[in-house]
Amino acid sequence: MQKLIVGNWKMNGLGAALDEAQAVAAGLGAAAARVGICPPATLVERMSRALAGTLVAVGGQDCRAEASGAYTGDVSAEMLADAGACLVILGHSERRAGFGETDALVAAKTEAALRAGLEPIVCVGETLAEREAGGALAIVTGQVRGSLPAALAGRPFAVAYEPVWAIGTGLTPTLEQIAEMHAAIRAELVATLGEAGARAPILYGGSVKPANAAEILSTAEVGGALVGGASLKASDFLGIIAGA
Ligand code: PGA
Repeated sequence: MQKLIVGNWKMNGLGAALDEAQAVAAGLGAAAARVGICPPATLVERMSRALAGTLVAVGGQDCRAEASGAYTGDVSAEMLADAGACLVILGHSERRAGFGETDALVAAKTEAALRAGLEPIVCVGETLAEREAGGALAIVTGQVRGSLPAALAGRPFAVAYEPVWAIGTGLTPTLEQIAEMHAAIRAELVATLGEAGARAPILYGGSVKPANAAEILSTAEVGGALVGGASLKASDFLGIIAGA
């Protein structure tokens, strides 16, 4: 199956950065991968227009579970879809750690994404302390169980395994550790969602760069990558896509 490679720009990018997104679209050629970019909410609409007719999908980085209301500063899944988004990242560790997002909240946001017709990318991952204590598999499979609502069955979605200690650090797990975790996530997905869980791509995220992309992407059960820092420059992101 085609790999899914998604760039997470986090809180980076002014209007001028749309040039990078357009350079990604122009450089794709007959790429073997499905590609998405999730810019900050302020750029979703402009990027959607700039990339209309290209193979690059646009997504949000988070959404509120409610469709509208008195939630100052928040953005709903419907608003992202209205601005042209097709994807949305949910439950990123920077949201879980920095904004106290629980599995139950991530599940509610995932339902909101489905309601709005967005393809959710639900993030899970252990901290270094959890891995060192030997609890990584239990933590991550628990996050999968708690963050993925039954409504996902029959809908397109992805899970992203992002060890917190690998995000933005330059550290990556060994390929054996990635394969072990992705196999555990797959088993949990099948147990909770049946056939739908057998098909959903499981992305790896955390310090993916052109130099390590090909080997990570060819590891068993790695269905793609969620890329932070290295998605900000078109040349790096295209180098990662080339590894798919
Ligand atoms: P990184 O971030 O590629 O910069 O490590 C990945 C992510 O947080 O999605």
